[in-house]
This record gives sequence, C-alpha cells and structure tokens, in this order.
Amino acid sequence: MSTVVITGAQWGDEGKGKIVDLLTEDADYIVRYQGGHNAGHTVVIGDEEFILHLIPSGILRPGKKCVIGNGVVIDPHALLTEIDGLREKGIEVKDNLFISGRAHIIMPYHRAIEKESEKQKGSLRIGTTGRGIGPTYADKMARVGIRVVDILDEEILMEKLMINIQEMNYFLERLYGVKGFVLDEVYKEYTGYAARLRDFAGDTSVLLNQALAEGKNILFEGAQGTHLDVDHGTYPYVTSSNATAGGACTGSGVGPTEINKVVGVVKAYTTRVGSGPFPTELKDATGEFLRDKGREYGATTGRPRRCGWFDVLATRYAARVNGFTGMAITKLDVLDDLDEIKICTGYSFEGKIYSEMPSELKVLEGCEPVLESIEGWKVSTSGISKYEELPLNAKKYIERIKDLIGVEVDIISTGFRRDETIILRKIF
Ligand code: GDP
Ligand code: IMO
Ligand code: MG
Repeated sequence: MSTVVITGAQWGDEGKGKIVDLLTEDADYIVRYQGGHNAGHTVVIGDEEFILHLIPSGILRPGKKCVIGNGVVIDPHALLTEIDGLREKGIEVKDNLFISGRAHIIMPYHRAIEKESEKQKGSLRIGTTGRGIGPTYADKMARVGIRVVDILDEEILMEKLMINIQEMNYFLERLYGVKGFVLDEVYKEYTGYAARLRDFAGDTSVLLNQALAEGKNILFEGAQGTHLDVDHGTYPYVTSSNATAGGACTGSGVGPTEINKVVGVVKAYTTRVGSGPFPTELKDATGEFLRDKGREYGATTGRPRRCGWFDVLATRYAARVNGFTGMAITKLDVLDDLDEIKICTGYSFEGKIYSEMPSELKVLEGCEPVLESIEGWKVSTSGISKYEELPLNAKKYIERIKDLIGVEVDIISTGFRRDETIILRKIF
C-alpha cells in the first residue's frame, strides 16, 4: 500500500496532468481533493490531447478508479459535459467514477455573483476563471452551501434554494443591478442533474479507507498550485481552496498518518495566469519566447500565461508548506534554445534582500528579483528519457535547483508525452 500526493509548487499549470497520468499506471485510485473546473490538466496520449477539468486524470487508463472528494466544488453541468465528452472519445466513465456526497455544488448564482464582483473590483480584480469557485467555497464556509447529497433530496434542495436564492437575488438586483434567478427554474435544472449524478454519489472516505485496508495504491491529484492556495498563496490573488498537500486529507477523508509521499510538480521556469504578484515575471522577448515555446496558454480559459524565470524562494516555500518528499521537474525542454538561463535567489526591496518569501503584497509586487545566471545548453533535450543523455549544462541546472530547494528530484519531464520522461526514483 502506498499513497502519494501530487501538488503544484508554483501558480498552477506546472504539468500536474502529465505527471499524474504517468503515475496512474501504478495507482489503483486517483483522487481530486480540492478546486473545481477552474483546473485544466492536459494529458497527451499518442496523438490525442485530453484536457481534464473536474474528473481525475486517471480516468484515461482503463481499470483505474477515480474519486472526486468532499473538498472539490462541482458544477454538475460542467461535470456531465466532461463525462459525455470523454465517452464520445471512447473513454469509459461508469462504475470507475465516485463522487463524494459531501462535495459542494456550484450554483448559477455563484457564477453570477463572481462575475459582478470581479467587474466591480476593476483593476483590483483577481482575474478568476469565472467558474463560480470563490462564491461556492464562501457559501460552504458560511454554512449555507448545497452539497451533492442535498441536490439528491428534492425537499432539502427546495428548502435551501428558497433561502439562498432570496439572498443572492438581493445582492444581484439591489447591489449589482442585474437580473436575479427564478427559484423554480433553478430547482428544475438541478433536480435534472441529480438524476444523472445519483449513481456516482456515495461516501468516498469509506471507499478510500477500505482501499487502504486492502493495500491499494492511492494517488491524490492536486489542482492549482501552492501560491494559489487560500492560506499559503499570494492572498488575495489566490483560489479559494487548499491546493497544498494538507488539502488532500481534509478534501478526501483520508487521515494525515496515511500519506506516504508528497511530490511537488515544479516547472523549470515559472508561469502565472490571472492577476497578482509575480516577482520573476519577464515582460520582454524572453517572456514571449517561453510562452510560445512552452505553449503557455490557459487550458481552461485560453488566456496567455505570464512567464518568468525559476523562483527559488517560491519553490522552497512550496517544499516547506507541502513537505515535499521529492520533485518532478517539468518542461526542461522549453529552455533548450536559451543562451543564458536565470534563477531567482532573492528579492530586493527598499534596500533589503529577502531570502524567504514574504507575505506582504507590497514587497511581492514592488521587489526586484536577485538573479543568478546559468549558461544554456543550446541542444535539444526534447524526449530524452535517460539522465546520462542530458547535456552537461542541463544537468547543472537541475543540480542547482535541487541544491537550492533542498529536495531530491524524482522525475524530469522533457516533453508532453508519456515516454518523454526521465525517472530518477520510483514513486510507487
Ligand atoms: P497542469 O494544470 O499542472 O496539469 O498543467 P497544464 O496541463 O495546464 O499545462 C501544462 C502544459 O505543458 C500542457 O500543455 C502539457 O501538455 C505540457 N507539458 C507537460 N510537461 C511538459 C514537458 O515536459 N515539456 C513540454 N514541452 N510540455 C509539457
Ligand atoms: P490548474 O489545476 C492556473 C487562477 C485564476 C485566478 C485565480 C483565482 O490547471 O493548475 P478561481 O477561478 O480559481 O477563483 O481563480 O486562480 N487559477 C489557476 N491558474 N492553473 C489553474 O489550475 C488555476 N485555477 C485557478 O487564473 O488567477
Ligand atoms: Mg492547468
């Protein structure tokens, strides 16, 4: 039996989908524990590209069991569309998908409130994915949320909707001056979804703990990244869930004593989509080069991702708050053509050098990165699957990152396909 948590070390889109798909080969269960369809995890199998939003990437391998845990927020329409899309591509989604009855449901008023609130914020907007994630988690914490089990019970659904819609319509109509929602229409729409979701719903904590007792391997698939975590990220420019490894326990009902490994997915440079501080951002030709070569466009919203150098402070912080047992370094091949590659080892702000990531937005926004330079390797690493075959300077870059972060490297990814991978240490 083994349990492994995969989390993003930066601001999301580190290549978690590729790494999870790779490790799924040895896993029995693959579990999403937080976030919702704000995530976009890309998996390429042969010539076909799949983008998973809500369903664990494990669904692409036959015979694997996939779980959407209690910590996830579910938009039923998005989920059913994703299920239908996978089935159209010949992927089975049937008794291999389990959904926690305790997961919260995204309602249409959550999306509407988020849209208006973002508009109202103007230049201070978070740049959310517009999926209603924040307002749904806000309702969960305010203890007025609607869970999967609640939409399966028509009486409870009606009772909760009556209260919630009245309140939400007040905000929408009086505060934002837009049209509110009609109770019966929302009720009808959601009872319709309930009919299709019923077969998937259950107590997934019981299921996972039974699997542990039977000696099965469980892989937890984090969404977003450490610096988008609501507690540990660059608040308030974050998402509304715990994307860090601790979220795997609260978001699935598996105890912390059952977690064996935490692997951080670390992009060989840094990207961020949406607003918020990004100390190593490159607003020049090198940034554009990384975006083009790395195809850095959002898998969910299609927005261009902001690109920058590797940030040691951000990644070391991630190693600490997640407790990384190892790292999977991705997209090394994107750096192949560069003459010089830089690593940020400190932040300089008002005459002071920071060597740990500060929590003050003012510092993160106003600082200059202290950069160390590494000579590029200028040959293709694309598809290399043996460490010995990497050019010397690429090895030096990896070694330098390993030393500065203080965590061993388990995997190096040199392309988006499964076999474009160097395995240094076995995960399961
Ligand atoms: P996730 O959200 O962390 O799963 O990452 P995304 O799927 O949003 O973005 C990662 C992108 O990089 C996807 O298009 C992947 O196919 C691609 N990718 C992953 N690993 C590698 C790699 O090692 N090299 C290259 N060139 N692309 C990669
Ligand atoms: P994956 O799992 C990158 C960002 C949004 C925005 C902020 C809040 O593919 O790595 P939200 O809609 O969650 O309230 O938006 O978080 N964001 C992501 N950025 N990858 C993601 O997921 C993200 N999910 C949310 O751009 O800045
Ligand atoms: Mg993504």
